[in-house]
Amino acid sequence: MSNSHPTELIQPLQQHNQQHLLDSWDELNPSEREALVTQIAAVDFAEIERLLAETGTASAAEQPEARARRATRPRNLVRLPNSPQEIAEHREAARQGEQLLADGKVGIILVAGGQGSRLGFDHPKGMFPIGPVSDNTLFQLLIEQAVARSRRARVTIPYYVMTSDATHEETVSFFEQHNDFGLDETAVRFFRQGNMPAVDAATGRLLLAAPGRLALSPDGHGGMLAALQQEQLFDDMRERGVEFLFYHQVDNSTAVVCDPVFLGLHAAHGSEMSIKVVAKRSAEERMGVVVDVDGKTQIIEYSDMPAEVAAMTDDAGDLLHWAGSTAIHVFNRELLERLAGGEHALPFHKAHKQVEFIDHDGQLQQPDKPNAYKFERFIFDALTQARKALVLEADRAAEFSPVKNAAGADSPETARRDMIALHAGWLRRAGATFPEGAAVEISPLFALDADELNDKIPAGTEFGREIHLHE
Ligand code: UTP
Repeated sequence: MSNSHPTELIQPLQQHNQQHLLDSWDELNPSEREALVTQIAAVDFAEIERLLAETGTASAAEQPEARARRATRPRNLVRLPNSPQEIAEHREAARQGEQLLADGKVGIILVAGGQGSRLGFDHPKGMFPIGPVSDNTLFQLLIEQAVARSRRARVTIPYYVMTSDATHEETVSFFEQHNDFGLDETAVRFFRQGNMPAVDAATGRLLLAAPGRLALSPDGHGGMLAALQQEQLFDDMRERGVEFLFYHQVDNSTAVVCDPVFLGLHAAHGSEMSIKVVAKRSAEERMGVVVDVDGKTQIIEYSDMPAEVAAMTDDAGDLLHWAGSTAIHVFNRELLERLAGGEHALPFHKAHKQVEFIDHDGQLQQPDKPNAYKFERFIFDALTQARKALVLEADRAAEFSPVKNAAGADSPETARRDMIALHAGWLRRAGATFPEGAAVEISPLFALDADELNDKIPAGTEFGREIHLHE
């Protein structure tokens, strides 16, 4: 590459007032130059300008707080089963879900492209050791469920793993080192999501993370749609006969992967996108809630929910908006394809954040207050575009304990505690005895649920203080 600026870049950069991106060109070596050109070519500057200009253009009725005030409980809602009839319906749904799995109609999507900044772990979050006895990683615990589910259904369940520039290389080699944790080698397909640049909030200019390197971050879990399309994975799904996708996030080790009840109810209700919810612990809990607004099921983020709306109760004194999102979904493949691009593409959300950058003099600046906009797509925005959306209540203690923070709520400590409580409950139901306070961990390859454990453990079996049941 020549020493002068690539001429085809100069004009568009000038047109969008971004010519500063080439300021350090003369100091870059050839490979750095090539990398910069590639980064710049991937940016849609007109779109960035459009997104920046969008500030506050929504009508009063469309402002998030106004929508929250109009919200009602979701109408297509299936609560935890209570009556004998509801229990029978769930049992029938499980049978249907198992049939869908056995027929090869289900694939799995795991999104693992996030930067995990709150956890502050130096590797992809899926590599975090979470097993309370085994120290097995989030990846291993989730994937062993997929392996166990495949064995039960006697079928290869395709496993699509979304990575990002922040997580791709380490994730792929971690899977390789562990032989894909026992997944069939034809099952695993990695796909890398795109990036979005961070933009200086005052000037609209893209920030540089280093001389000649843009400050980029993954484009949100909603980036999954464009990435699946780009990697031609919708074709892969179609060729394999996959019609339904079970979606989960890497930070919830107790998510019931490919839960047959969830799959069965999704199909039986003719839903295009379904979501599992759990009861919020309190009005103040920082969780997105699932509601209907103007007839459309959607999520209101906790930051958009006025405190007095979050605190509203019904006649029985229960929270009106109790349905906290677990970010566990089932999608129809066709919905994902429809939303992967063009007019139905999911919107970008703009967030005002603190982003480090290199200033004009090449000095690293570490702002102490938000200085930049970042842009992300959220997969849950697909809800409003689904022809029918089903909301299914799950038992929080059994299915939802995410690892978000280094300490306190939703941390490794709470996730391990919840897993021990869950598995100790299964063991007790199986009639086993063990000391109070024992650490209990049951590998999905040993038992996927309480019923399977019951079949494997003779009643009256005695265990010690540290219990790890595995293959
Ligand atoms: P979060 O929104 O909790 O973000 O992601 P995070 O990156 O894990 O953590 P913080 O906010 O930086 O602390 C929820 C799920 O979505 C995935 C994450 O990997 C996680 O499984 N995700 C998030 C992506 O795959 N890509 C993204 O761009 C963002």
